[in-house]
Amino acid sequence: MIQVQMLPTNQDNYCYVIHMGDATVVVDPGDAQPVLRYLEQHGCTLSLILNTHMHQDHCQGNEELKRVTGCTIIGADKRIPAVDIVLTNEESLAQLDCLAVSQDSSAIQVIYTPGHTTADCSYYIHAGDSFSGALFSGDALFSGGCGRVFEGTMAQLFDSLQRLKGLPAETLLYCGHEYTLDNYRFAEYLEPNSVVVRNKLRDVQLQRERDEATIPVRLAQELTTNPFLRTADCALRKALMMEDNSEFEVFTELRKRKNRY
Ligand SMILES: [Fe+2]
Repeated sequence: MIQVQMLPTNQDNYCYVIHMGDATVVVDPGDAQPVLRYLEQHGCTLSLILNTHMHQDHCQGNEELKRVTGCTIIGADKRIPAVDIVLTNEESLAQLDCLAVSQDSSAIQVIYTPGHTTADCSYYIHAGDSFSGALFSGDALFSGGCGRVFEGTMAQLFDSLQRLKGLPAETLLYCGHEYTLDNYRFAEYLEPNSVVVRNKLRDVQLQRERDEATIPVRLAQELTTNPFLRTADCALRKALMMEDNSEFEVFTELRKRKNRY
C-alpha cells in the first residue's frame, strides 16, 4: 500500500511524505518543522529522505530531520546537506534498491534529470495494486512547465524531459513547486487559439481561486498541454513558426521565451 501526502513548505514548494508499507519516506524537505509535525501527528518514523537537487528550498530541512530521526539521506549531488548516499552512477540504483523501503513489490527508481542544476534526479515509484505510479520531479518538470537552466545545459534538460515523457501516461506527477497557473498563462500566451490549453488554464484558475493545489496531475494531461513536452506537436510548432526546426530547437526557444515572459 503506497500513499502520498503533500506538505506545502516555504513560499510555494511542495515536500512529499510517501508511506510505503510500514516505511515513511520524505521527498525534498525544504523545512523540517512541517515534516516533524506530520510524523508526530501520524505516529510514524522517518526512514529515508530523497532529495531531487541541492537548492536550499528543497533540502533545508535535511540536517534537523537527520538529527531528530536518524534517517538516511539520498541524492545525486554531494552538495546536498547531510547526504549519505550520492547517486553518481548506475550502480547506485542497485544500492537504492537495497534500501528498498517497501514491503510490497514496488521499488523506487532513480531517473537522472540534470539541466536545472548539474546533478538533479527524479524518483519514480512503479504502479501497483490500486496505485497508478508516481513521479517526483523536483524542479526538472512542473505542471505546465519545466525548470530554468541554472547550472546545466539546455541539451541536458531537454534530454531529461525526454526520459520523463517515456514513463507510463497514468503516472501522477508530483513536482517541486506550485507554479502551474503561471505556467499555463504562458502556455495560453503561446497558443491563444488552443481550446485544450485554454480549458486547462481555466481549470487551474478555478483550483487556485479555491486555494486548492494543482498537484498531482497525470502525465497524460501534461503530454497534451505542457508546451515543454509538446515540442513535436504540429499546432505548437506552427504557433511558434518553427515547423521545420528540430524538437531541441523548439524546446530551446520555449525555454528562452519563458525566461523573458
Ligand atoms: Fe531548484
